[in-house]
Amino acid sequence: MTYSTVPRALQFLRSNPLEVTLRRHSIRQYTPSNFYSNRELEQYASREAKRLTLRQLVFFGRSLNADKILKSANYVRTELPVRISHRLRDLQALPYVVVTQEGVDKVYELYWLAFEKFRQYPEITTLAENQKFCEFLQKLLDIHATVIPNLSLGLSLSSKFLSPDRLDSFMRRMLVSRISRRVLAEHHVALTRSFTSQQGQESDEPHVGIIYTGLNVKHSVERCTSLLRSRPPEVEHMGKIDSWPEVITDGHLDAQFPYIREHLEYIVFELLKNAMHATILKHYGKGPLPAIRVTVVAGENDIGLRISDQGGGLFSGGNTIENSNDLCSFSHVRNASRLEDQRIVALRTATEEGIRATVEEQVTRWKNPSSQLEKGKPLTATIEVSASLPRIGIGLPMSKIFATYFGGSLELVSLDGWGTDVYLRLPKLGTNLEDIEL
Ligand code: COI
Repeated sequence: MTYSTVPRALQFLRSNPLEVTLRRHSIRQYTPSNFYSNRELEQYASREAKRLTLRQLVFFGRSLNADKILKSANYVRTELPVRISHRLRDLQALPYVVVTQEGVDKVYELYWLAFEKFRQYPEITTLAENQKFCEFLQKLLDIHATVIPNLSLGLSLSSKFLSPDRLDSFMRRMLVSRISRRVLAEHHVALTRSFTSQQGQESDEPHVGIIYTGLNVKHSVERCTSLLRSRPPEVEHMGKIDSWPEVITDGHLDAQFPYIREHLEYIVFELLKNAMHATILKHYGKGPLPAIRVTVVAGENDIGLRISDQGGGLFSGGNTIENSNDLCSFSHVRNASRLEDQRIVALRTATEEGIRATVEEQVTRWKNPSSQLEKGKPLTATIEVSASLPRIGIGLPMSKIFATYFGGSLELVSLDGWGTDVYLRLPKLGTNLEDIEL
């Protein structure tokens, strides 16, 4: 592969002075053409992932010392290539025509690079080496910000070559595994940050790494509502919108539980965005906008949220989808919107937007490490970046995957002609293992 045929995303990253890792690395050996020949990959892929529970992550991260930080670093260093190798094998099992599609080929190359880098990364034996390792992790996290739009684009374009079941189970494995890897990497970076106290106070709420030990659900709903009001959803053919449905929260308003705030808020943000969008489409300009109601319930084992809107339901108004599960499908057979031109264009923009946003974010972070970006916000802005990308149709499937990662669930009930109720259930005790396939 010559430089000029390297996918645009990699060209951009290679020419960016911040990204030394990729520039130094020849990507020739990772092209799909030498696809099936890698013994190291086989070795790693034959190992099982060492899955963790939320509770283990919290317990380990309490009362840190240098030994624990090094242990955490080396766990991440050795565990991530195993998890990546499983997904590389999955990619290799796809028909060749799929893996060479725009988007899928980029992800394949990114994962090969990451796999090789981890595999060759030497053991971390000092805190100074760990600092370098965290910088390495942070760069990878940033570079991989475009994985979801790229995968979604590639799988949409090639969905005619895969059965809907195969496509959806492949995507689920890819996405949940990606969440798991990002959790491990981000958690380790956050633990290191707390241990060395480089960044000062990151958030007012108590947390261990990226896990908020008493995450207040009502506060999360409020944060998502105000983020949405600052970036209102675009509503087709509506011009400028000047009023928004109110969000009323009721139920157990003081409910708290240990959870990854970024995950809860991604889900709530996406669900509220959909509810607002539907409410505006149905009612805007015809009278007062009916409120969206969020009911929070703290059960014995779970936290439950019901989000109810009066936006007309899921299956009225010419929607061709008949089953709420199909809304989460990446196959055009189940969800025809996957191949709409407008969406493909938006996905292509998203793959580039993601890179631009990520690089800008890196520049800000490097120039001003204690900037607002680092304080009280999700530890990477990736979720915010992807949450703010319009019309790419991944918010709902991703929300479902986030919900199920530690054993929760997300269900949609449509009252056609009236509105939609979404039921989110998240386990409260943190004792479920990560729901990733090995
Ligand atoms: C991803 O975001 O896709 C990852 O796998 C991240 C990991 C390499 C740190």
